[in-house]
Amino acid sequence: MSETKARIAVLTSGGDAPGMNAAVRAVVRAGIAAGMEMFGVRHGYKGLMAGDFIPLGAREVGGIIERGGTVLGTSRCEPFRTEAGQAQAVGRLKAMRIDGLIVIGGNGSQAGALALAQHGVRVIGIASTIDNDLAGSDVTLGATTALDIALEAIDRLRVTASAHGRVFLVEVMGRRCGYLALLAGIAGGAEAIVIPEDELSPEDVATAIHAAYRRGKSHAVVLVAEGARHDADALARYFTEHVERLGFELRITKLGHVQRGGAPHIFDRIYASNLGAAAIEHLQTGAHGVLLGLTGGQISATPLGALAGMHKTLDPRLIRLAHVLAQ
Ligand code: F6P
Repeated sequence: MSETKARIAVLTSGGDAPGMNAAVRAVVRAGIAAGMEMFGVRHGYKGLMAGDFIPLGAREVGGIIERGGTVLGTSRCEPFRTEAGQAQAVGRLKAMRIDGLIVIGGNGSQAGALALAQHGVRVIGIASTIDNDLAGSDVTLGATTALDIALEAIDRLRVTASAHGRVFLVEVMGRRCGYLALLAGIAGGAEAIVIPEDELSPEDVATAIHAAYRRGKSHAVVLVAEGARHDADALARYFTEHVERLGFELRITKLGHVQRGGAPHIFDRIYASNLGAAAIEHLQTGAHGVLLGLTGGQISATPLGALAGMHKTLDPRLIRLAHVLAQ
């Protein structure tokens, strides 16, 4: 009699991130290599509640490693936050006789994964969000590519800023976390960086710009995190109101979702491939209820329960470095 194959499902949830497809591909192919039967859940937790499963073979995940977004689709699903929504999802998993579920996503998605684990589902999380705000991983899947995209835009903006001697203000995503703005600001040579973890007032920003001009710079670039108290709109309002006194205008670029939609770069493709394979290895050994990420350069597994309510902080050394290098 042939042994029954383990049935494993994978979903992507929340904001898409470059590398999600590469992770889905790795999960499916590593699962097949391990003798498992693989399924995708379409549109994240919304699809899970609706029982929207599709069988996935090696060919179904061909030609996606280089694609941004997620071929499975994703969603932000309010009903899944409720006890009834989670019970419905668990019912769908039972009806499909799913033995293990892999959840690729960020903070909200991993909170959902923990809820499923508490309902007895064997679940593995893969840390994936451009925001890099997820405790349990030094860097989340997609954040590095999103930074590269932001950096390319910043480099271009500096060229035109320099040509005109202008001040450009660039707002990047990141929800309440300043990671993207801080790293893009350091790497992009920003004169000032405004992040929730190191709030600068509009006057602080004006002082930094004046100081840059006094030091002989012909232009200035200011990086702003969308979650900062003084975001791009607030700073723009302030500088327009005080333009005569401050003596310069701002040009604003909000990168927004542009950062999210890019093709994954080399780091994220390899990282996703390692994470996907590690998820299958964990299920094979009977380990579950963990978030997979990167800690000290190694793929790490942290119990989802230990991460609940934990807040990832920015490295204060990087914040200090940003101030030093902006001189
Ligand atoms: O969490 C990823 C992210 O891109 C955040 O940086 C941003 O605040 C949010 O998602 C935007 O969400 P939505 O795509 O639902 O507008």
